[in-house]
Amino acid sequence: MLEIKDLSLTVPMQQEAVQAVSHVSLSIKPGRVLGLVGESGCGKTLTAQAILRLGEHQGITKISGDIELHGESIFTMSEKQLRKVRGGKIAMIFQEPMTALNPVFSIASQMLEVIHLHLDLSRHDAKLHAIQLLQDVGLQDVEHLLQQYPDALSGGMRQRVLIAMAMSANPDYIIADEPTTALDVSVQKRIIALLRKLQKDKGLGMLLVTHDFGLVAEMCDDVVVMYAGEVVERGPVMDIFDAPAHPYTQALMGCRPEVAKQGQSLTVIEGQVPAPGEWPEGCRFAARCPYADAECQQPVVADAWQDGEHIARCVHVDVRLQGQEHGQTSIEADAAC
Ligand SMILES: Nc1ncnc2c1ncn2[C@@H]1O[C@H](COP(=O)(O)OP(=O)(O)OP(=O)(O)O)[C@@H](O)[C@H]1O
Ligand SMILES: [Mg+2]
Repeated sequence: MLEIKDLSLTVPMQQEAVQAVSHVSLSIKPGRVLGLVGESGCGKTLTAQAILRLGEHQGITKISGDIELHGESIFTMSEKQLRKVRGGKIAMIFQEPMTALNPVFSIASQMLEVIHLHLDLSRHDAKLHAIQLLQDVGLQDVEHLLQQYPDALSGGMRQRVLIAMAMSANPDYIIADEPTTALDVSVQKRIIALLRKLQKDKGLGMLLVTHDFGLVAEMCDDVVVMYAGEVVERGPVMDIFDAPAHPYTQALMGCRPEVAKQGQSLTVIEGQVPAPGEWPEGCRFAARCPYADAECQQPVVADAWQDGEHIARCVHVDVRLQGQEHGQTSIEADAAC
């Protein structure tokens, strides 16, 4: 189990450190895919990167909470242990395949470096392993490809190489942060199919960070929705698609024509996510929420509403869900999104 427990982080802003992730808890179970969704600036990447302590050199600092891999805190690990975890037990696939590879080294040298870091293989066996990994991700003419430099590859090919590198040490977990956003639509579909196959074949636990509820429906078992640095809803994917409990999740889902329920008009979420340092005292979504009232000006606990494993940070869920049973539409909307 890979668990984030009550994690709060600050980011450096001008003269001071400002909280950008607050009290986030989530767990990625072996063999299951957890989708982490939310609008831009909600803290998804900060949370995902914290798992490998990647933001620390940029001044991103933990102020409370913990992250545990199989019960062991990653914050008490030595640099040596952490190097074994990074790319070894937990691999990361980034959004930008164009920048994640170093342009001055060949694909062979970058792959072999990663393989030698984690596996005790001879040069010959490491090369055979690299060839196998590249074939596993659907690349062809791989002997030739190994001699190439990243510039010679398309975006889709680079992302496949990065996925091959991520798989090189047989990780238990993959963190994929918007793995297809930078790719053409047709290439996106093939990369998603590849990720899904690898995840299933190898029984990987996966954290999939995405804006895309269609992708969540396709790939995820569980969902966590973040808004303004905190978790506002979590639960099994079917529960959240059947009955999104938080108005923010409802609004996000309404923005996708293929996900919005039949007969329900599409939604525009007016306004913006409040930036770190500008969070209100009470519900952080209240300023954009059609149901907000005086009660929402008070701080809302994470499990204000709960139905089994389905949890939402909203004090008005019951009233709203009852309203929907009586045929009221949830949010005023138009087709602009
Ligand atoms: N290194 C940093 N220094 C200062 N502020 C940062 C840093 N990284 C992130 N932030 C701020 O923290 C907030 C959350 O950022 P984060 O990148 O986690 O958002 P996100 O949910 O991944 O958004 P997107 O969907 O656009 O990738 C944003 O307001 C962002 O500006
Ligand atoms: Mg991000």
